[in-house]
Amino acid sequence: MSGTETSTDSGKHDFVVVSNRLPVDRVVEPDGTASWTRSPGGLVTALEPVMRQKDGAWIGWGGQPDLEFDPFESDDIRVIPVALSAREIENYYEGFSNDTLWPLYHDVIAPPTYNREWWDCYVEVNQRFADAAAEASAPGAVVWVQDYQMQLVPKLLRLLRPDVTIGFFNHIPFPPYGIYSQLPWRTQIIEGLLGADVIGFQRVADASNFQRAVRRLKGYSTKGYQVEVPLVDQSPGVRVFGEIKRQGTFRTVVARPFPISIDAQSFEELARTPAIQERARQIREDLGNPSSIMLGVDRLDYTKGIGHRLKAFGELLAEGKLSAEDVTLVQVANPSRERVQAYMELRNEIELTVGRINGDYGTIAHVPISYQHHGFPREEMVALYLAADVMLVTALRDGMNLVAKEYVACRFDEDGVLVLSEFAGASDELKRALLINPHDIDGVKDAILRAVAMPKRERTARMRSMRKRVIEHDVSRWSDEFLKVLESRAHNGTSGHELA
Ligand code: F6P
Repeated sequence: MSGTETSTDSGKHDFVVVSNRLPVDRVVEPDGTASWTRSPGGLVTALEPVMRQKDGAWIGWGGQPDLEFDPFESDDIRVIPVALSAREIENYYEGFSNDTLWPLYHDVIAPPTYNREWWDCYVEVNQRFADAAAEASAPGAVVWVQDYQMQLVPKLLRLLRPDVTIGFFNHIPFPPYGIYSQLPWRTQIIEGLLGADVIGFQRVADASNFQRAVRRLKGYSTKGYQVEVPLVDQSPGVRVFGEIKRQGTFRTVVARPFPISIDAQSFEELARTPAIQERARQIREDLGNPSSIMLGVDRLDYTKGIGHRLKAFGELLAEGKLSAEDVTLVQVANPSRERVQAYMELRNEIELTVGRINGDYGTIAHVPISYQHHGFPREEMVALYLAADVMLVTALRDGMNLVAKEYVACRFDEDGVLVLSEFAGASDELKRALLINPHDIDGVKDAILRAVAMPKRERTARMRSMRKRVIEHDVSRWSDEFLKVLESRAHNGTSGHELA
């Protein structure tokens, strides 16, 4: 869907979303013509009705350096692009966001880099997003800030616009204090987040980790899902805080789980399309009609446990418990953050392993792993989900993992087995998956064998129960629940002066 670009509005909006990436990408064709193309994310689908109802605007980066654009309209969404220079992409996006925060928040699976220039740039870029949000917000607007790239925006925005109600949702895990405390700027990030009225996390554990960090670093009290933030912050010093508390001069911030989901209905609708079902049959045939197709779909990221999955699969082939004639693993690895060193190394490792397994156990007719290093259109993804007898989600740490939910949403035939890491947020909800610890390679192997051999009746019972959860708790319910809590916090505020 491409954007119709008009610019006829007042410039002020009652509902504003702020995220690193816009819901549209700037696409330049080989002949030089350029347009904005809607990216098919669940977030934009969920927010579309609110956007329309409330004259919403979306602030974000267009995905390429130095894209200077005036705000425009794209399929009823007001899009406000924020330009980032090549240096800012390097320091704020690739550096601080994806080589400091990302590995730190994912249990230091890869070592985080702490670089002071990157931090300075993160502050600078967060300020630019906060300025843009302050500019775009009508009096008393609701602003919803998304994800770890934007953690300072709530405080910076509150300083500029104490009248607005601010929500923040963290799409990735929030780490335990023992890990979080490594961050040289740990207090500034907590202060940044506490500028929000409501802070959403994927899991109960993430909200608890955050609250512990607040208590340790700021000395504020937490009660249930509420954090008490003194209006005049004189920390450190619980004693001073005690006096403030007696005067009752604090605001409460809600910090609680809101597990995100997908637009389940739209996945099911695609899966019911005859052309897509035919494509699923074609995929099986093209793979040589194996008795079992296993599927992995991930961004090529070290948090996804792709190497662990391949190790388990390779050992099963080596032991003769699976054979290339019987089983094919389709691994879709979406290219991601390709200029970050850890991602370059991961690609080399994974591709070496895939090559070895295919070389060692393949035959002329059968290749054990069909490896796809590119994204696919949503229709093709749905066909793959329908073709897959077993879906492998082996993340070492994952905020939610929407792929697991997409697989379940597509399986209206109540068939297919989901093998799911307990370290993915989705495992809190999809309890009838075969839950695994991806570090336990023997456990993963057992789960794969069990999945391949699972009787139809058990597959149906498990899938039926998971489908109920995913269909009832879809992404609209997620955004409705978050926004309901957020709107109930309007006028909970303080003034920018008091927060400074
Ligand atoms: O969910 C985590 C996240 O970083 C999102 O913020 C982002 O849209 C997605 O993964 C893809 O990452 P990137 O924007 O770095 O390509």
